[in-house]
Amino acid sequence: MRKLITGGRIITAVDDYVADVLIEDETVVAIASRFDVEVDEVIDASGQYVLPGGVDPHVHFRMPFAGTETVDDFTSGTAAAVRGGTTTVIDFPLQSRGTGLIETLDRWHGLLGQDQPMIDVGFHMIVSDLSNGKLDEVPRLVDEGVTSFKLFMAYKDSLMADDSTIFEAFCASADHGLLTMMHAENGGVIDVLVRRALAAGRTSPKYHEATRPAKAEAEAVHSAIAIAEMAGAPVYIVHLSAEESLRHVAQARANGIAAYAETCPQYLFLDNSVYDLPDFEAAKYVFTPPARAKHHQDALWRGLAFDDLAVVSTDHCPFCFADQKRMGIDDFSKIPNGGPGVEARLQLVHDGGVRAGRITLNRMVDVLSTTPAKLFGLFPKKGTVAVGSDADLVIFDPNKRETLSVESQVSKVDYSNYEGREVVGSPTWVISRGATVGRNGKVVGAPGHGRFIKRAQHLQPLTGKVVDTVIRVQP
Ligand code: URP
Ligand code: ZN
Ligand code: ZN
Repeated sequence: MRKLITGGRIITAVDDYVADVLIEDETVVAIASRFDVEVDEVIDASGQYVLPGGVDPHVHFRMPFAGTETVDDFTSGTAAAVRGGTTTVIDFPLQSRGTGLIETLDRWHGLLGQDQPMIDVGFHMIVSDLSNGKLDEVPRLVDEGVTSFKLFMAYKDSLMADDSTIFEAFCASADHGLLTMMHAENGGVIDVLVRRALAAGRTSPKYHEATRPAKAEAEAVHSAIAIAEMAGAPVYIVHLSAEESLRHVAQARANGIAAYAETCPQYLFLDNSVYDLPDFEAAKYVFTPPARAKHHQDALWRGLAFDDLAVVSTDHCPFCFADQKRMGIDDFSKIPNGGPGVEARLQLVHDGGVRAGRITLNRMVDVLSTTPAKLFGLFPKKGTVAVGSDADLVIFDPNKRETLSVESQVSKVDYSNYEGREVVGSPTWVISRGATVGRNGKVVGAPGHGRFIKRAQHLQPLTGKVVDTVIRVQP
């Protein structure tokens, strides 16, 4: 099966030129100014951009949390991703204490197998417990294509890992070429703040923000980087939301430490005024970390522009307002943490980032596709438009307007955090390994087209500094 995309403006992290793209089956096989070949389908992309499909390295489908589960499964969640111009997602098997890493992975393969993903799916491993020989399972995990860990410094008494486990995970990452992702917030401090707020009768969702201060994030970011440095391992901070946290990342990078961080649209586009909404509406914004005061947004955009922030992921973690968020109607700490977002990322970042002059078009591609593909062992199959790469492509009309709304949303969740927001620029075609899966806002792909993707190891940059600072004793 041959397809030709003609006349589009190809934008990668570094290129910007008009050319035709020839696809054979699942792969881009040639790029040229003009082709004279027989094809099965011609897609006219003139006047539009041809972008590499988005890589969203932070989504939670079927995630168990606070006694419930995120409402998107791998079918609906990947369909929502298609709507947003994303062609690869990385989700998180969650190790419960006492369970092995491979046992956890097998369980999540079972869940994925029950669903019918529309696009390719990878896994990071959430680690809570490395006792009793579980570290011996790490090489097998790498063989299975799971080349990153995630640990939580928050959510005391549930997901939170202690410092020994965190350090062990970083050491194993360094030894086996994994990248460790950190949810960086000081869980102990937050736990006390939450208990005090509740004891004082402060039970409404606005206290979610008040009990998770930016300082608690910044302190944990600093600590995570220091622990990673002691292990000689790279670190990736997830959902960074605050200017003071970013300063720690920037400082570490300036010192030659392999510290990376992502932010998410909710921190670039929403601010803490959402917590003043009446009638429990604020529960829609109970995600972690919370939306911050507006001035943080400028710092985050600067971080993206100058590479101290490497990625915009979504942390898509959807819970329905009608029933799931209401679990915390009398106690904000019982509101399941998380919000939807997988389908708005490209449009928001294009409109509020590129059109607003905050980042360039090339940088947009970099933070939404190329860098996550590189950091998480998917490049160059994913993350660029090049000969030999998977034909994961988005044709994007930069002038097509759309109003974001739950009405046109694909996710099963019952609200949008961007309801009524007009954006300029929309995907018109979404192509996953050569197959059209999205067309003008509709998901048209075949359920089950998506596959589990094994990822390569994370390659550490040759800064030298990380190696110099290794102080641990090799096992
Ligand atoms: O609120 C959030 N982010 N929920 C998902 C779990 C996490 O912290 O990533
Ligand atoms: Zn998190
Ligand atoms: Zn998350």
